[in-house]
Amino acid sequence: MSTNPSEEKLFEVMYTTRAMRKLKPDEVPEDVLVKLIDAANRAASGSNAQGARWVIVRDAEQRSKIAAVNKVPVDAYYEDQLKNLPELPHQNREKRKRMFDAVKWQGDNLQHIPAIIFACYDFGAPVPEAMRGMGMMSVLPGVQNLLLAARAHGLGGTLTTLGLTDRDAIREILGLPESVEAYAIIPVGYPMGTFGPVTRLPAEETIHWDSWS
Ligand SMILES: Cc1cc2nc3c(=O)[nH]c(=O)nc-3n(C[C@H](O)[C@H](O)[C@H](O)COP(=O)(O)O)c2cc1C
Repeated sequence: MSTNPSEEKLFEVMYTTRAMRKLKPDEVPEDVLVKLIDAANRAASGSNAQGARWVIVRDAEQRSKIAAVNKVPVDAYYEDQLKNLPELPHQNREKRKRMFDAVKWQGDNLQHIPAIIFACYDFGAPVPEAMRGMGMMSVLPGVQNLLLAARAHGLGGTLTTLGLTDRDAIREILGLPESVEAYAIIPVGYPMGTFGPVTRLPAEETIHWDSWS
């Protein structure tokens, strides 16, 4: 038992924040959405530039347009994965199938999910090709904070990227200026299922002390 109660809570949130794709259509209060973004913005950014920007889509028409663009790569990915479903050491075939079925469910139902959050970075000038990766690095720590904050509020979310395959279509729907790049789509809502512990490799299998060999 830890002597530090806040450590216990933090670890419980981290260890039970998993990809929640099946979400209810129930509205998420605006103040809660703002809290998620405020938590996201606590994260680190390169040079403390704080260039992360968030487009939160709640408008039904906008969500339908995004869902249509998102569905194309999701369906292709689903079909492709199911053709040859490999068994991974940490995830058997049955569990993998369940995961891909949830990806497909989200692709079919994105328009009903109450808040679709786009994690973006504003470079302040037309996005320099060589710097695109840097923007991503400065946005992703915030995305993880957002997911943890969502979990703390009983909300589910998932970091998704497939929907950005047609970059131009998404840019047009969101009206992104030339200086802004979108890196992740995070559908957020109240989960249909229950939170449970995430299954991950044991730390010992992933650590190399002092050098690789
Ligand atoms: C870089 C990256 C891209 C991802 N893209 C997608 C995606 O396009 N669609 C999706 O449903 N999940 C996506 N995920 C979520 C992963 O599938 C998920 O984190 C992983 O399967 C672990 O799930 P779990 O937390 O439920 O165990 C992505 C995650 C990362 C880190």
